[in-house]
Amino acid sequence: MSRAAAILCPDPPHTGDAVNASDDIDLDRIQDAAARIAPHAHVTPVMGSASLDRLAAASLFFKAEHLQRSGAFKFRGACNAVFSLDPAQAAQGVVTQSSGNHGAAIALACRLRGIPATVVVPRNAAAVKLAAIRDFGARIVPCEFDQHDRDRVTARVLAEQGGQLIHPFDDPRVIAGQGTAAFELLHQAAALDAVVAPVSGGGLLSGTLVAVKAINPAIEVFGAEPEGASDAFQSLRQGLRITDMLPNTICDGLRAHLSIRTFGILSRRCDGILLASDAEVRAAMRLIFERMKQVVEPSGAVALAAVLRERERFAGRRVGILLSGGNLDLSGVFPQAPHADEDAAFA
Ligand SMILES: Cc1ncc(COP(=O)(O)O)c(C=O)c1O
Repeated sequence: MSRAAAILCPDPPHTGDAVNASDDIDLDRIQDAAARIAPHAHVTPVMGSASLDRLAAASLFFKAEHLQRSGAFKFRGACNAVFSLDPAQAAQGVVTQSSGNHGAAIALACRLRGIPATVVVPRNAAAVKLAAIRDFGARIVPCEFDQHDRDRVTARVLAEQGGQLIHPFDDPRVIAGQGTAAFELLHQAAALDAVVAPVSGGGLLSGTLVAVKAINPAIEVFGAEPEGASDAFQSLRQGLRITDMLPNTICDGLRAHLSIRTFGILSRRCDGILLASDAEVRAAMRLIFERMKQVVEPSGAVALAAVLRERERFAGRRVGILLSGGNLDLSGVFPQAPHADEDAAFA
């Protein structure tokens, strides 16, 4: 992927892949979600860094979702979905599939609601994320890496034990919950010109688009994606949902494909997808660590990486950046140090 080919949702999509379907998520739904999760979720801070502003030649406003409960914005959508269940549904428990952050968020939300959770997790999931799912009390069912096996095992679990399926991104309750992060950001940081959020399955970006464009359509909203998993970029460019790309990136939270629903929302509202290489993601993680003293995981740093690559685009502007998660596996950094109780790390 060339650096020059960094962006854009140019022409209207030309397929019938539901891009014209109504997205049944609006600002009211996001405000409802904000009220529903308020007793449980943190209002995360918005941080700034004078030295990163100088580097980007822009004013950057970092929404610190790595400080959200369970260590990622995912708690917002999971919490909204779990607390939206009526008592009869809740009594059945929740089933989901996740490579990590959504699974931990569902596990925590179910623990708070006092109901059982089962998470179907690919065998190559990051150890730190697996530990969080387990320590929040969910049952873990392993599956293979590919989406086909994830779906097969999830269907088997649902058939065997029943339960309510809460998909990591293809669910209006989840998307509305994820939209509360940008909703908060716009109340915390005035007069933004643009907002940049990572994109994988597109739940976070969809919720961000709905919230931001409803509040102020003049604010540009971009997705940020690793070059090695650029299916959203390709999908919007071609007007066709790409689902056969094999991801190759250190961003372990950004390896899913858009769903029909999220592709539709992005196609109608997104101002573009920005790309970053894994090397640029690493550099962004290091900058966030050194200049802001914050720990973010690779998927959480991709938006800054993309903004720094696109300096000319953002120069002189006020830009909101979603630091989406902080669940970094530190075993390589501290090989000798014993692992502390994960409950403390995810409180
Ligand atoms: C830290 C982090 N950022 C961003 C994303 C992307 O979220 P979505 O799948 O809603 O696009 C994920 C998904 O797992 C994630 O874990």
